[in-house]
Amino acid sequence: MESGIIDLPKIEDFRGNLSFIEEGNPLPFSIKRVYWIYDIPGGALRGGHAFREQHEMIIALSGSFIVSVDNRTGKRNYFLNKPWQGLYLPPGHWREMKDFATNSLALVLSSMPYSPSDYIYNYSEYLSCGE
Ligand code: TYD
Repeated sequence: MESGIIDLPKIEDFRGNLSFIEEGNPLPFSIKRVYWIYDIPGGALRGGHAFREQHEMIIALSGSFIVSVDNRTGKRNYFLNKPWQGLYLPPGHWREMKDFATNSLALVLSSMPYSPSDYIYNYSEYLSCGE
């Protein structure tokens, strides 16, 4: 499966808009863990690794940032700045998060509990895993 932006439901209301995610619709995995990244200093880089098995969805709940995604055959930059859009990342994708606007809040939904052994931190190891 490929990475890509998934539009989430957006209920527009004069009292404020509302979006939501349910398993299976439109998320293609079961949520086992949720984490979020905040208080990000200017110029910081996050990510810089791939996962062997876990699927993720990344949402810019607030602010904006770029997720650079590499699938071994090419690289693509996704600009996230809408709380009603999620970036779906299948396993086996190298990813970096950068260019965070002040006060950005990145929400990440994951298909697995935290597992250090699922991380690939070495880019050449990542490339050789796909051979
Ligand atoms: P890491 O996944 O490397 O962050 P990023 O990809 O955003 O740069 O995690 C940073 C630290 O937080 C690392 O020491 C592991 C810890 N951590 C947990 O304990 N549980 C979690 O669910 C996550 C995502 C990280």
